[in-house]
Amino acid sequence: MPEFVTVAAVEDIPPGTGRTVEVQGVWIALFNVDGSFYAIDNTCPHAGGPLGEGHLDGLLVQCPWHGWRYNVQTGKRPENPDITVACCPVRIEGNQVLVALPENFT
Ligand code: FES
Repeated sequence: MPEFVTVAAVEDIPPGTGRTVEVQGVWIALFNVDGSFYAIDNTCPHAGGPLGEGHLDGLLVQCPWHGWRYNVQTGKRPENPDITVACCPVRIEGNQVLVALPENFT
């Protein structure tokens, strides 16, 4: 069973925004898309840019370093779906956002 960790309050992350949170020593990018929360690996596969600091447009976050985009729901690049970032399970309990690392996370 994945271990869920409380990372933020719902009101801390308004719709259309994201932030970087820590889950068991790993930096994870957490986003609010119209009230639904999604979490992906914070580290851009291109050169390590911080995706939690990227601009969010709908379900797509743009890496702040060189502009690669990722779907925060699927982890895939729309321009090249072979390049992905890991997606993390998210759970809402009351007004708390909880995130777990995926089981195969490395
Ligand atoms: S590090 Fe993310 S696009 Fe280059």
